Amino acid sequence: MVVLGIESTCDETSAAVVVRHEDGGGRILSNVVFSQIAEHAAYGGVVPEIAARAHVEVLDTLIARAMEESGHNFSSIDAVAAAAGPGLIGGVIVGLTTAKAIALVRKKPLIAVNHLEAHALTARLTDGTPFPYILLLASGGHTQIVAVRGVGDYVRIGTTRDDAIGEAFDKTAKLLGLAYPGGPQVEKEALTGNATRFALPRPMAGRNDADFSLSGLKTAVRLEAERIAPLSDQDVRDLCASFQQAVVDVIADRLRHGLRAFRERFGMPTALVTSGGVAANEAIRKMLHRVAFEAGIVLVAPPPQLCTDNGAMIAWAGAERLALGLTDGLDISPRARWPLADVNKPPAPASAGLAKLPQDL
Ligand code: KG4
Ligand code: ZN
Repeated sequence: MVVLGIESTCDETSAAVVVRHEDGGGRILSNVVFSQIAEHAAYGGVVPEIAARAHVEVLDTLIARAMEESGHNFSSIDAVAAAAGPGLIGGVIVGLTTAKAIALVRKKPLIAVNHLEAHALTARLTDGTPFPYILLLASGGHTQIVAVRGVGDYVRIGTTRDDAIGEAFDKTAKLLGLAYPGGPQVEKEALTGNATRFALPRPMAGRNDADFSLSGLKTAVRLEAERIAPLSDQDVRDLCASFQQAVVDVIADRLRHGLRAFRERFGMPTALVTSGGVAANEAIRKMLHRVAFEAGIVLVAPPPQLCTDNGAMIAWAGAERLALGLTDGLDISPRARWPLADVNKPPAPASAGLAKLPQDL
């Protein structure tokens, strides 16, 4: 089965073609990604309106390039998949509507993919990881520990009560005067910093659940920075190293609790799988290896370009759903919010809001 996948939920526009074989194995035939970071950098974060317009500008070209590189054309593919949420609604509308147009004109099945499900299933494309496994999804917008039990079968074990982990990196970087996106900058500064200089909190550590809370940690960095201002370059490095170490410790603790909860409810996971931009961090990866080793399971960390947002993961999730006969109608709505637990629930009908409009409009 050959599937075209479209991603446009945040600040990456991407189109990809992926094949899924009958034995469940998969291969990426093309994966073209356009990052909008340059467009948003001046604002220190993603601006939804700019993102939506940038998706419109490049998506057609990216799809054409992805098709060409894959050696397929619109007749030879089996289906079109697009991320239908969760995400910035303007971008989601652009990708989903484009996919609908292709599906309609080319008479192909449409698959409206949940972006989080696509992150969750990437390890099956890259490593053929069998169910059930435990997933740490850590990006700029999401922080979750999830039991992945099958296609469409996800149980959330832990989540953040405030900031996402990547968001905490970005906000910390911003308050220290570092560039956006902050994660890679903080990691770079931390390399030559002293991680023990500042005694930062480990929020939620030791608690019985597997939830996160990161806003207090970011505030603690701000208070330390204000206390010793003006900051020297070495102060910034030490603050970055101390912050990163606190995040590493918190994730390790939360994952250990998450693993225990997983084993109690579902037995032994086959692997610890990671996804999302934060998984590119070397210190975090090292810790994940340690936690997986302790638990007697392998760590599956897809290459960074497949951990961050990309069309291949959408195409693959589409192929996994298509293999089970799960396709969607052309009337399916995009969703800004779409928790993994609701992955199989249909959205409210697209026309639901229109009924409330005054008659004379
Ligand atoms: O998955 P992603 O590319 O986009 C979404 O948020 O969906 O993740 C981007 C996030 C940003 O918050 C970025 O600062 C963080 O991942 N990130 C990192 C690193 N590289 C990217 N955080 C820590 N260390 C890194 N090396
Ligand atoms: Zn993502």
